[in-house]
Amino acid sequence: MMRKILVFDTTLRDGEQVPGAKLNMYEKVEVAKQLKKLQVDIIEAGFPASSQGDFLAVQEVAKKVGQSDNIIITALARAVKSDIDAVYQSVKLAQNPLIHIVLGTSDIHVEKKFGKSKDQVLNIGVDAVKYAKTLLPAVQYSTEDASRAEFEYLWSTIEAVVKAGATIINVPDTVGFAVPEEFGYLIHRLNDRLKNLDDKVLLSVHCHNDLGMATANTLAAVKNGADKIEVTINGIGERAGNTALEEVVMALKTRSNVYNAVTNINTKEIMNTSRLVSNFMGLDVQVNKAITGDNAFAHSSGIHQDGLLKSRDAYEIISPSDVGLDDMELVLTARSGRHAVKNALEQLGLMPADEKDFEGVFTKFLEIADTKKEVYNHDLYILVENYHALHGNGCERQNMSQHFYELEDFQAIINSTFPSASVKLSKGNESITHSATGSGPVDALYSAITAICGLELELLEYNISSVSRGKEAFGKVKIKVSHKGKSYIAKATDTDIMKASVLAYINAVNSVVVDSL
Ligand code: KIV
Ligand code: ZN
Repeated sequence: MMRKILVFDTTLRDGEQVPGAKLNMYEKVEVAKQLKKLQVDIIEAGFPASSQGDFLAVQEVAKKVGQSDNIIITALARAVKSDIDAVYQSVKLAQNPLIHIVLGTSDIHVEKKFGKSKDQVLNIGVDAVKYAKTLLPAVQYSTEDASRAEFEYLWSTIEAVVKAGATIINVPDTVGFAVPEEFGYLIHRLNDRLKNLDDKVLLSVHCHNDLGMATANTLAAVKNGADKIEVTINGIGERAGNTALEEVVMALKTRSNVYNAVTNINTKEIMNTSRLVSNFMGLDVQVNKAITGDNAFAHSSGIHQDGLLKSRDAYEIISPSDVGLDDMELVLTARSGRHAVKNALEQLGLMPADEKDFEGVFTKFLEIADTKKEVYNHDLYILVENYHALHGNGCERQNMSQHFYELEDFQAIINSTFPSASVKLSKGNESITHSATGSGPVDALYSAITAICGLELELLEYNISSVSRGKEAFGKVKIKVSHKGKSYIAKATDTDIMKASVLAYINAVNSVVVDSL
């Protein structure tokens, strides 16, 4: 029998503590709605005593998202009456409200932060729980900095607050100091005593990633009896962040033989949630981030692409569709081997019948890949056509390149009143020019290109960044044809940031065109 692990999401509280990541009320409610779709069990919506804005946002989440049997809404309070009142007032309209109280337990916190005796701090915690219980039946107590606390004092605190009515005990590794073996053992000992004291009280963990071990520590805790995990989307949070929801959930699912535990998470909503949080908070996801990074399901080495094409399980432990992605991505680069290029050509109906011709096409492919970094399907059409034109033989799909757009020239006018742009593209033998205004120069450029292509496109993501320390800018866009499900991601580099942005958009538009051929 699999154990059920409750997922407590603190993206809107610990995650929001990331500098610059503060959300407005609308954004908070949208993220909370998405967390509900993801089927988290508990949403920590904020820290209402911190500001009137946060109080109102938590209240809105309780009203709009908390009207269901399947979700608990909570918010954080220090162990003081005014904080507990603020939490109560903001979450009370939810169907299942919970008060979350935090108070330090390590000697460092007790002596240096509070300047009090251990007994005094313990009593403050007990009084806070007793007060919270007069307001709501469900109260979580977080023993802050538990991983650095003296064990017997930590246990005395837990015993006392459980006797005062706490229904969940949360054990935080507040500064990410713990290591898996030690944290697992701590949870094992606490769980043993807690279940003897009151087996209805849940044991929870909350880990930080300062040593890169938040996921490992959380999993060690689950293995040792934790009933509930505290996590954030993309692992965002204070300093190096919190445990990433997607990592623990997918580890439990993929290695259920080791953990024998399940969550209620709808894993197909993981990517949607990750992107929404990243966009609203303006926090890019590291490209190689486990599960939600851009490259997590992209394969570029020739050896791997060859193996995957023979049998996917050679290099794939999670099906991309399980986290809400369309499919794995075989990125064509200079390191892709013949097998991957053949596969791409076959899918496009471009595979030369003659092996000698394929070798010629492959040599050309490598030349383009060396200059372009990533080769797209429209590049393959052009490449194959040019090859056949040069060698005087026909190919099955001729004159496809006339459908693709190429940049001839562009101009962007940057000013605060009327940002505008003109773009000249070629399509086959045609040259088309269009001008547009926009909310900024990139918006104006994209509007002009969209008008030239006559497609109804939605820009889902746009990003410009530097390529390591060089002078090149790296543009990345994600677009969608309005009213259609599929989205297209494309990239481009150039020393001019506007040109990198334009080329990335044209690459994406050409990917749309390829699909319509
Ligand atoms: O890291 C921490 O200790 C916290 C508590 C409020 C749980 O965020
Ligand atoms: Zn924390």
